[in-house]
Amino acid sequence: MSLSRRAVIGSALALAACERPRPSAAAVSLAPLKALAPFPVGTAVQSAQLQDAALAGLIAENVSQLTPEWEMKMEYIVQDDGGFRFDAPDRIAAFAREHRLRLFGHTLVWYAQSPKAFAELDERRVAFPDAYRNYILAVVGRYRGQAVGWDVVNEAVAEDGEGWRDSLWSRKLGPFEHMRLAYHHAREADPDAALFLNDYNLEYLPKKRATFLKLAERLLAAGAPLSGLGTQTHVAADLEPGALKAAIADLASLGLPIHVSEMDVSLARAKGFRSRADLVADQGRVYAEAARAFMDLPAAQRFAFTFWGLRDAESWLKREKAWDAPLLFDDMGRAKPAAAAWADALR
Ligand code: XIL
Repeated sequence: MSLSRRAVIGSALALAACERPRPSAAAVSLAPLKALAPFPVGTAVQSAQLQDAALAGLIAENVSQLTPEWEMKMEYIVQDDGGFRFDAPDRIAAFAREHRLRLFGHTLVWYAQSPKAFAELDERRVAFPDAYRNYILAVVGRYRGQAVGWDVVNEAVAEDGEGWRDSLWSRKLGPFEHMRLAYHHAREADPDAALFLNDYNLEYLPKKRATFLKLAERLLAAGAPLSGLGTQTHVAADLEPGALKAAIADLASLGLPIHVSEMDVSLARAKGFRSRADLVADQGRVYAEAARAFMDLPAAQRFAFTFWGLRDAESWLKREKAWDAPLLFDDMGRAKPAAAAWADALR
């Protein structure tokens, strides 16, 4: 793999690295990601991580958009007594303002989360539809004018592509109706935010992708203010070449803006036995394919490209396998070959 001159700043070190096989863990010298990309570049972050000055600096330098990794989810915001807490997401929002980064909200309605307080509404004689609307109005309204967009509905489609997932929300408000309502409530709370439908494995499962696209069309046909499609892109280094390109092009066929919303490329989730060096090379190939596929979109459809963290040290996948290294920067915050591959493919 060659490194573009544009992408490389510390040329002495980097050129030397080009001429010999690069050890798998070698750091490369790169310009800030956001200076290299003609679209917003994002990362997920947790409020406590902003206390780490090195990481905070790496974030401010490299990205133009922040997604709270979990502190804007119900699991954080909704307390057992039904009260809301916003201290952690407010800290992320403040950091974004301070460093002039965009804020992206994640996520309002997720089958995986159904706080106790919602399940107990009947006992407290609060109507479910009112509590649902009130939650969305409170959360979206709080960041109105700052959040550029929201993952309104997350992971709605079944893995086998046979319809949608069952959840507290679908049971109480209807399998389609709870989603339609969520977009309306979010729009009521913020007239300007881009409202996304977000899902994962869309590059692995064409049938799931087709159902995802049909859901988006159905929401639009029902008048829901859906403004973009998010593809999480949690993939493994052995992802079949061409799969990402096909998925991103297919998703773009509706003409809506696309958000690569949570990308990481796991080494540990790749199947079979491969050397670390092979996995690292494949990881670069996968990141490069994603960058190229995103660049192939019309500029107006490139909403943003978000990584699910910058340094390997903070990756959620490390909790699954400690040796995994799915991100663009190593534990110390040095750009990895995968970062160069991603940057190089933007040209
Ligand atoms: C994950 C976070 O990374 C974890 O820290 C959290 O505990 C669980 O959720 N799809 C999503 C994200 O939409 O919200 C998930 O994030 C990763 C999968």
